[in-house]
Amino acid sequence: MELTYSSIIQNKHIVEDIYEMHLEFENKEINPGQFFMVKSLEGSYLLPRPISVYDYDGKILKLLYKVVGKGTKIFSKLKTEEKVQILGPLGNGFPLQDIKGKVALIGGGIGIAPLNYLVKNLKAFEIDSYLGFRDKIYSLDKFEEFSQKLVIATETGNYGKKGFVTDFVNWEDYDTLITCGPEVMMNKIIKIGKDKSIKTYASLEKRMACGIGACLGCSVKTTSGIKRACKEGPVFSGEELVVEEQPW
Ligand SMILES: Cc1cc2nc3c(=O)[nH]c(=O)nc-3n(C[C@H](O)[C@H](O)[C@H](O)COP(=O)(O)OP(=O)(O)OC[C@H]3O[C@@H](n4cnc5c(N)ncnc54)[C@H](O)[C@@H]3O)c2cc1C
Ligand code: FES
Repeated sequence: MELTYSSIIQNKHIVEDIYEMHLEFENKEINPGQFFMVKSLEGSYLLPRPISVYDYDGKILKLLYKVVGKGTKIFSKLKTEEKVQILGPLGNGFPLQDIKGKVALIGGGIGIAPLNYLVKNLKAFEIDSYLGFRDKIYSLDKFEEFSQKLVIATETGNYGKKGFVTDFVNWEDYDTLITCGPEVMMNKIIKIGKDKSIKTYASLEKRMACGIGACLGCSVKTTSGIKRACKEGPVFSGEELVVEEQPW
């Protein structure tokens, strides 16, 4: 982990409120599922924001982000050659060596970002990808390239199947479920994994202040006590997560 001032190679608008930023970041080992605390030099009163590794080739670090508030709005205005402060890579990432058998990757919205870097690193396994969006779809290339099967669902029915993507997974087909997306979607998948005894991993998107385990602002309830999403996570196995009962 290191603190770097990294130059922006490009920062492009993809669709609606989704952007992709490419940064210079050379020769570091990054595990899929790890993230960076990113801070613009503009608006420096703001805390850094956690953003997952969307792709990395040893030279260029790619981030896919959705504008939801002040910090990400500032990111979206940054121009080529401006610099951002990045701290990382942080967190545990996915346990690649433990992911076995037939795998379903299930991403919701901007939660597809860490799964994109994962899908290309899991290519030795049989992988099906299930991606859910509200209306517009984006950033499907790697999933098309590395998945045996790709299922897209939109809530509006504008593209792919209409409904929640979890409605189209045949759970019994899989040895491992891997998910990142809205909390309600991940909780549903964690519960299904537990009920059907399917190994499940979820990458949690908790709000974070420090990103390095110091502030306890990202606590997660687990069967072995409270853990920090930024340090012991953001990837947790479904078995260890304590999920409150949901009203579905
Ligand atoms: C490990 C990790 C990886 C992440 N990876 C990505 C990524 O690759 N791309 C991406 O776009 N986002 C990612 N996020 C979420 C991202 O960090 C937040 O969207 C961002 O911090 C919001 O900052 P803001 O200043 O724009 O919004 P704020 O002004 O801080 O908040 C605006 C709104 O967004 C909500 N919000 C803020 N943070 C989160 C969060 N973590 N989860 C859910 N809602 C939140 C707030 O409740 C509020 O309603 C990740 C989060 C974590 C913890
Ligand atoms: S964000 Fe500070 S401990 Fe995790």
